Amino acid sequence: MFFVFLHLMASIGIMDSGVGGLSVFREIRKVLPQGRFIYYSDNANCPYGEKSPEFIQERLRFITDFFLKRGVQVMVLACNTATSAAIAMLRQEYDIPFIGMEPAVKPAALGTITGVIGVLATAGTLKGSKYLDIKDRFATDVRIEEQVGRGFVELVESGHLEGPEAEKTVSASLAPLLQQGADRIVLGCTHYPFLLPVLQKVASDLGHPEVEFIDPAPAVAARLLQVMAEKNIGMSDEHPGVELISSGDPSALQRTYKEIL
Ligand code: DGL
Repeated sequence: MFFVFLHLMASIGIMDSGVGGLSVFREIRKVLPQGRFIYYSDNANCPYGEKSPEFIQERLRFITDFFLKRGVQVMVLACNTATSAAIAMLRQEYDIPFIGMEPAVKPAALGTITGVIGVLATAGTLKGSKYLDIKDRFATDVRIEEQVGRGFVELVESGHLEGPEAEKTVSASLAPLLQQGADRIVLGCTHYPFLLPVLQKVASDLGHPEVEFIDPAPAVAARLLQVMAEKNIGMSDEHPGVELISSGDPSALQRTYKEIL
C-alpha cells in the first residue's frame, strides 16, 4: 500500500543554474502534460559556466538531496554545464535515474551542407570530457567552430531577449561562427534557446538567413519518457502540478515560467 502511494506521487525533478532549463521543461510538458514537477533554479550561484567542476558537483549533491526528500524519482539535469561536471558522479552516488543534456553535434554534422558546424556553449561545457567525446564520435567528417556565448546567460536571466543590447551581445559570439562558414549552429546551453529570435535576426542581418540553430530539448524530453518506461516510473494524473524553487531571487523564474506556459 505504501509503495502504491509513493508510485502515484512520483515526481520529476528538473534543475538548472537558472531559468535556462525551462527551455527543456517546455518540451517535457508537451510529452507529459499531466506530470508532477519540481523545478530548481540555482540562481544564487548562476552562472555555472566558469565555475569549477568540484563546485558544481557540490551544488548537484545538494539539489539531488533536496529532490529526494520530496519524493523525486527521476531527475533531469536541464543544464549542459552541470551534466558535463556532475552526471557521472551522480550516477555513481545515487540510485535514481539521471537524464542529462548532450550538445546536438550529431544532427548538426548530419545536416550541414557547408561542412562546418558551430557550437555555442559555456566554457565549462566546451572544456568537459563529455563534449570532447561527442566531437570524437560524431564530428569526424566536419569542421567544428566553437564560441562561448559571452553574456547570453545574463541576458536571459535578466529578461533582455531583444533590442540593441541583446543583438550586440549575441552578434559578438555568433558572427565568428558565421564568418567561418557554419550553417548549423548547436545551442549547447539551455539558456540559449530563449535567444533564438535574436540569434535568427542577427544571422539574417549578417547575411546568413539560412542558418539553422539546433536545440536538443525535444530529444531530451523523448529520452525522459523512454527512461521512465524502462524503469517503470509512472505519473499520477491525479496530482499534476509544478513547484518552482529558486536558491536566490525568485522573480526571474516566475517571469520566465509565465512566458513558457
Ligand atoms: N543553462 C546552463 C547550461 O546549459 C548553464 C549556464 C550557466 O549557468 O553558465 O549550460
